[in-house]
Amino acid sequence: MWRRYLLYVVFLLAGACSREPNAPSQTARAPDANRGRSLYLSNCAACHNSSDPARDGPIGPAIKGSSRELLEARILKASYPPGYQPKRKTAAMPAQPYLKSAIPDLAAFLGSDPAPLKKDHK
Ligand code: HEC
Repeated sequence: MWRRYLLYVVFLLAGACSREPNAPSQTARAPDANRGRSLYLSNCAACHNSSDPARDGPIGPAIKGSSRELLEARILKASYPPGYQPKRKTAAMPAQPYLKSAIPDLAAFLGSDPAPLKKDHK
């Protein structure tokens, strides 16, 4: 009986640890491109290009210049803004909603306007 309980605790701890390292802090601050860069490297570069986001990666397309609106849709829901023409028709990218507060940093790094929407994304 206690073994089951122990297993449960171990799973809880494992879950807590695996979430921590990449989770951005919740404090309000100015968008930080350097932070965006390391977040890109740890959360996106496995699929997108690991040295240059302007080029295609092993799995995902180039995403340099992505609008904040596009990043929000992708990261929060793995979707696209209304009317957006995706570069790919696949649906291979998982949502990463725990990166919500990192979106301004990612937008700063990817070179899109950190405040409102930008429509050109070629
Ligand atoms: C598991 C692989 C994977 C990871 C991790 C991943 N992506 Fe993607 N991403 C893709 C793929 C594949 C596509 C093409 C559409 C699809 O299949 O979902 C894509 C599409 C996109 C697009 C849309 C490109 C366009 O204009 O159509 C953006 C923007 C994007 N990813 C940003 C990110 C960011 C930012 C991260 C990290 C926070 C990230 N992705 C993490 C695989 C990934």
